[in-house]
Amino acid sequence: MKLKAIAYSSSANLGPGYDVLAMAIDLFYDEVIVEIKKSSTTRIETVNVSGPYSSYVPISENTATAAAKEFLKRYNIEAEIKLKIVKNVPVGRGLGSSGATAAATVAALAKAFNISNVNELVKIAAEGEKAAAGAPHPDNVAASLLGGIVLIYSRRPLKVVKIPLKIKPKIIIISPEPSIIKDKTKYARSLIPKMIPLENVVLNTGRIAALITGFITGNLKLAGEGMEDSIVEPARKPILPLYFEVKEKLKNMGALGVCVSGAGPSILVMFEPNVSKQTLEKIKEYIVEEYSRREIKTHIYEASIADGAKVEIIEG
Ligand code: HSE
Repeated sequence: MKLKAIAYSSSANLGPGYDVLAMAIDLFYDEVIVEIKKSSTTRIETVNVSGPYSSYVPISENTATAAAKEFLKRYNIEAEIKLKIVKNVPVGRGLGSSGATAAATVAALAKAFNISNVNELVKIAAEGEKAAAGAPHPDNVAASLLGGIVLIYSRRPLKVVKIPLKIKPKIIIISPEPSIIKDKTKYARSLIPKMIPLENVVLNTGRIAALITGFITGNLKLAGEGMEDSIVEPARKPILPLYFEVKEKLKNMGALGVCVSGAGPSILVMFEPNVSKQTLEKIKEYIVEEYSRREIKTHIYEASIADGAKVEIIEG
């Protein structure tokens, strides 16, 4: 059997929701072609990696092979699996790149073996991503697999729920070229203090509740207010070029909420769905000017919340 799966990029954390909230973003998607043959032994290999970011994907141990290994182990399946990866999601920018590859692989295998337990599939994809990327966090894979905005509300056992959205906001992603790529997430995680003042935990808890209430009720202003973070973003300041400098100005220019996308350096900026073209153009001009003045190469993309992974059977 041969299947083709795609899974979108994602923005994790959404401000206060470190490792528990993430949004699928329709900017980029990874594609994984999975060929499965029945066998009495298990063999998993990546036969080809292509796409603009292929040079970052090792052919031997990558998030696709690791996720496939986890899947077969979990369901006690022996099979020969060949993987072809098309790596389109930029690496090291905080857009859930390794998670998208793992999610696409797991989505294809889930379809092939008729598995629909969402919590288990997210866990398998997260274990796969961890094995290859070294930083254990299920938020990106959950968003890439399920689409929309997801909440991981339990780690052991892993439990995830998709937040029902009344309205889909307009999103802008500001994406500076990263200064670190290898082990960036691991490094970004090492910057976070292990002990957090209770006051900041209380603040962040309230914001998560505001953010979710805002999305469910369609009050995007409230959701945007909930995107503030007093714990993780301040700790990561050294690897977030210009984030703290541009944030308030972006809000004054019409953004409802501004947060770091995953471990950065990308920035997610949220607007009402009917935000005017003029507002977006002014914001783009401002960002281009600010970043080029500091000689930081950056990209600016308009985006929307994406669907979950999609799978197509190519050969039965
Ligand atoms: N929640 C993870 C982190 C996401 O912030 O480290 C990484 O993409």
